[in-house]
Amino acid sequence: MDVSFHVDQSIDSVIEALILLAPALFANPTPVIVKGSKPIDMGARMPDGRRVLGDGKTIEGFLAGLVAGSLAGLLVFLVTGNYHMVTHAPAIALGALLGDIAGSFLKRRIGIERGRPAPVLDQLDFYAGALAVSIALGYKWDLEITLLTAIIVGGLHIGANVFAYLAGLKKVPW
Ligand code: CTP
Ligand code: MG
Repeated sequence: MDVSFHVDQSIDSVIEALILLAPALFANPTPVIVKGSKPIDMGARMPDGRRVLGDGKTIEGFLAGLVAGSLAGLLVFLVTGNYHMVTHAPAIALGALLGDIAGSFLKRRIGIERGRPAPVLDQLDFYAGALAVSIALGYKWDLEITLLTAIIVGGLHIGANVFAYLAGLKKVPW
C-alpha cells in the first residue's frame, strides 16, 4: 500500500483519503467527550432571534478537537513517514471543526434547534470543511473518490454516534 502521498499528488484511493482525513476524523468526535461549557458564540443571537451557533459548539470542544487532530497527524507521520502531515494535520482538523461550526450556523438559520437532527449536514459538515482545507493545501481529489469517501465518512459518523449514545456519552444517537 502506498501511503507516501505528497502535497502535489492526487488522492486516488479511499485509503489515502482516510489517512489524509485522519486529523478530521479524530478532531470531530473529541468535543463530544470533552463537553465544554463556554459557548463559542457567547450566547449571542442573530437578528432572526436565534443563537448564532448554540450551546453545542464550545471553546473547550474546539480546542480539544484541534489538539486531537494535530496528534492524529503526528501519529500518521510516525506510521507512514509522511512529514507533510505534521503541518497539514492542524489545518485539516481546523477545517473539520469550522465545517462543524458552519453546520450549526446553518441549522440555526433554518430554525433547527441545537441537538435536533439535520440529516446529511450533521454527518458531512466536518468532511466538507476538511476537504476544502485539503484542496487549499494542494491535494487533488477526483469526484469518485470524494463521493466514496463521503459515504464512508458518513457511515463512520453514524456508527460512532450510535456507539456514543449506547455508551451514555450522547443523549441522542445522531
Ligand atoms: N461539542 C463541543 N464543542 C464543539 C463541538 C461539539 O463542546 N465545538 C460537544 C457538545 O457537547 C455537543 C456535542 O459535542 O452537544 C455533540 O456535537 P454536535 O452533534 O456537533 O452538536 P449538537 O449538540 O448536536 O448541536 P448542533 O445542533 O449545533 O449540531
Ligand atoms: Mg448533533
